[in-house]
Amino acid sequence: VVTADDHSPAQNPAADSAFLRACRREPVPHTPVWFMRQAGRSLPEYRRVREGIGMLDSCMRPDLVTEITLQPVRRHRVDAAIYFSDIVVPLKAIGVDLDIKPGVGPVVGRPFRTREDLERLRPLEPDDVAYVTEAVGMLTGELGATPLIGFAGAPFTLASYLVEGGPSRNHEHTKAMMYGAPELWADLLDRLADITAAFLKVQVEAGASAVQLFDSWAGALAPEDYRRSVLPASAKVFGAVAGYGVPRIHFGVGTGELLGAMGEAGADVVGADWRVPLDEAARRIGPGRAVQGNLDPAVLFAPREAVEAQALRVLEAARGLPGHVFNLGHGVLPDTDPDALTRLVEFVHERTVR
Ligand code: CP3
Repeated sequence: VVTADDHSPAQNPAADSAFLRACRREPVPHTPVWFMRQAGRSLPEYRRVREGIGMLDSCMRPDLVTEITLQPVRRHRVDAAIYFSDIVVPLKAIGVDLDIKPGVGPVVGRPFRTREDLERLRPLEPDDVAYVTEAVGMLTGELGATPLIGFAGAPFTLASYLVEGGPSRNHEHTKAMMYGAPELWADLLDRLADITAAFLKVQVEAGASAVQLFDSWAGALAPEDYRRSVLPASAKVFGAVAGYGVPRIHFGVGTGELLGAMGEAGADVVGADWRVPLDEAARRIGPGRAVQGNLDPAVLFAPREAVEAQALRVLEAARGLPGHVFNLGHGVLPDTDPDALTRLVEFVHERTVR
């Protein structure tokens, strides 16, 4: 069993990295940068190694996972790696009939709508994802002083895919269950919380230095509903990994009204998209937590000068905040010019050297 001590500087060569220091709200040599979806279709080397291999199959091959996770670190010199996987991998691992369709996203064979459907969600055992343990071990060896971020989907976002059966704009079936069958809803989220917590534990015990919980679609909820029907499950996940001493990041899109609650769920770092300036986001999150974000990913399609002007706006808003991890407000868009990302990393580093 990994203890907090295993993540001490003596045990973890990444412990003193700019990224982990910023997460802990300690002084940093420069503002650390990484990008959600930094591994993926924006990189030609990614498209090459993925050729002819399905997304979920690639997630189960430690050699491929290691190579794909390292690609953006080599190319962009980002301050952290994010483990290459997908939020639906733990569900696939316990036998849920689902696939990831290119250009669409996760698609579930039979949507979850009734209490009987809960029986399809058994607990996740570390042996179900032995390839994750193996890949994280290979990665931490290769990464040295660069921290590895483990991640999982949050119960609400996972529930949305399971209940809708695929990506959804309005989450109507999900909300129908949340409002109409609150006990079933609570039980579904509680099971998902246990699966998510188990999946994060596997990654941390294998050597991940931080974890991020993606509640990508939580912004679809009113604050009162989020607090009552979603926060308890996400808090259970964060509580389950609290003892490791690794920073816990909580991210969602369109969550301007939820930032305070997302911090209270048990995060050390709260991610914000571009709709709220970072100083205001930090105010809403409150003291004692770092912020991550929040350049609009579409800005990277503008000329270099415009990208730099917008990056400066983010850095200005973050000035004086005790902990800032530079990131996009959501994932890298597939058609992004990778050179624009490399230049952005360099720009943020140059502008923030202390
Ligand atoms: O570099 C990284 O950030 C790590 C890799 C990562 C993937 N998915 C790989 C992936 C991460 C962190 C995720 C999380 C994820 N997956 C989220 C939360 C983050 C977010 O974007 O809000 C969500 C909602 C999903 C569900 C999902 N999986 C979607 C919406 C898609 C895109 C479908 C498409 O093709 O446009 C996927 C597939 C997926 N996951 C891809 C990648 C690189 C693309 C598939 C491919 O390359 O063939």
